[in-house]
Amino acid sequence: MTAQIIDGKAFAEGLRGRVGTLAASFAAAAGRKAGLAVVLVGEDPASQVYVRNKGKQTLACGMESFEHRLSAETSEADLLALVDTLNADPAVDGILVQLPLPAHMDEQKVIAAIDPDKDVDGFHVINAGRLAVGLPGFVPCTPLGCVMLLKDRLGSLAGLDAVVIGRSNIVGKPMAQLLIQESCTVTVAHSRTKDLPEVVRRADIVVAAVGRPEMVKGEWIKPGATVIDVGINRVPAAEDGKTRLVGDVDFASASAVAGAITPVPGGVGPMTIAVLLRNTLVAAHRNAGIDLPQDAL
Ligand code: GUN
Repeated sequence: MTAQIIDGKAFAEGLRGRVGTLAASFAAAAGRKAGLAVVLVGEDPASQVYVRNKGKQTLACGMESFEHRLSAETSEADLLALVDTLNADPAVDGILVQLPLPAHMDEQKVIAAIDPDKDVDGFHVINAGRLAVGLPGFVPCTPLGCVMLLKDRLGSLAGLDAVVIGRSNIVGKPMAQLLIQESCTVTVAHSRTKDLPEVVRRADIVVAAVGRPEMVKGEWIKPGATVIDVGINRVPAAEDGKTRLVGDVDFASASAVAGAITPVPGGVGPMTIAVLLRNTLVAAHRNAGIDLPQDAL
């Protein structure tokens, strides 16, 4: 069997198109554009690329982008003061502080300072709690993007066996919560899981979010399963000192067994920013007291 490719790039383009249309009607109704503030501390090269892309795509969707670039030596107190200013700024609907932060800062403290109603990353404990108990709130962008791809491909996920490999606060844990909400039977596997191949073999849905290049092998996959690869790992290419991007799944062997699979690049990656823009638009409607139809996005 050869797996169907789940085209996250195309899906993300469609979502950004819908966000753009609704962002224009929001601007007309509110008399201002929806606004996203992104804060980058330091010069981590991967973070710089993400932040640049976020800014570009925010503008392309007809929203306002506020970028704050701070030096790696910025004190935690100064960062917290900036977050306070953004919390109070009515032009800012969403706030994203790019992670990782420099080692001298306490990430949890910084996230806790963000107004939960502007926390478009969904990282604040209030939003994590809302997700856990099934209340409306902001959901982390990458796992929400994965669920959108899964539902687009499979329709209802009810009753399916899902294995999430990885237990991070950003992907693994919220992913498990979302799959529970979709009535999947969910297993969360991690570095201490016994006999991971056997656990994965039971799954109709496999979500790999461990950050280990090509760790999940085709022989672990149940024939016909849907495989979502969240990994983005840069590894040396075979020759000439270049590098290439690979996921957490060994694509060559897994795509021979799976029913459908996300590629890397072009699978989950493009969904993250598209969902961030969606969350920002939702925040803007809430902040302005303007209704957004439930299933518009
Ligand atoms: N660093 C890597 N991914 C993310 C993300 O989704 N949000 C933030 N704030 N930082 C990140």
